[in-house]
Amino acid sequence: MTEPILVRTRVDIAQAMSRRSGGETAAVLTMGALHDGHTALMRAARQRVGVSGHVVVTIFVNPMQFSPDEDLSRYPSSFDTDIETCRREDVDVVFAPSVDEMYPDGDVAVSVDPGSLGEILEGAARPGHFTGVLTVVLKLLNLTCADVTCFGEKDFQQLVLVRRMVRDLDVPIEVVGVPIARAADG
Ligand code: PAF
Repeated sequence: MTEPILVRTRVDIAQAMSRRSGGETAAVLTMGALHDGHTALMRAARQRVGVSGHVVVTIFVNPMQFSPDEDLSRYPSSFDTDIETCRREDVDVVFAPSVDEMYPDGDVAVSVDPGSLGEILEGAARPGHFTGVLTVVLKLLNLTCADVTCFGEKDFQQLVLVRRMVRDLDVPIEVVGVPIARAADG
């Protein structure tokens, strides 16, 4: 087990990432409240980059992907347990920024437009949701300087949109889709 480095600011994550030597970096982006699905992503990330690589987990509940009528304050949080999970899974760095750190000007003036794919299925029920998701995903991938990112197939529309953003905007990262980790009761 390794003790993950916990960083909370863009300056500290840049410093932590600049100290890396050796292999590639894989990022697992989460909103915390980590469960077995996240553990599967961390294991896939480690498997992809190997022991000489680096696994970064981000924990950030992104206000931009919630609409005003969705109660953000009720989103589950279990920070200490999450850090323990990251320690158990040999995560190297945990990046857990505040909302002010991620959105220093409040709202962003420029965001990622998911196009028509973001308007169907979950996007139809939650207008603006995937703009918020893709915008924060791009910001977090930039801040963590990741070479690879692992996304669960559970949120399939999100995975498709992240892949599409990476392709359409030439984001220099590999996206790995990770199969659903099902509980024993299905
Ligand atoms: O799937 C999630 O938990 C979130 O949508 C993500 C990718 C961490 C962006 O906030």
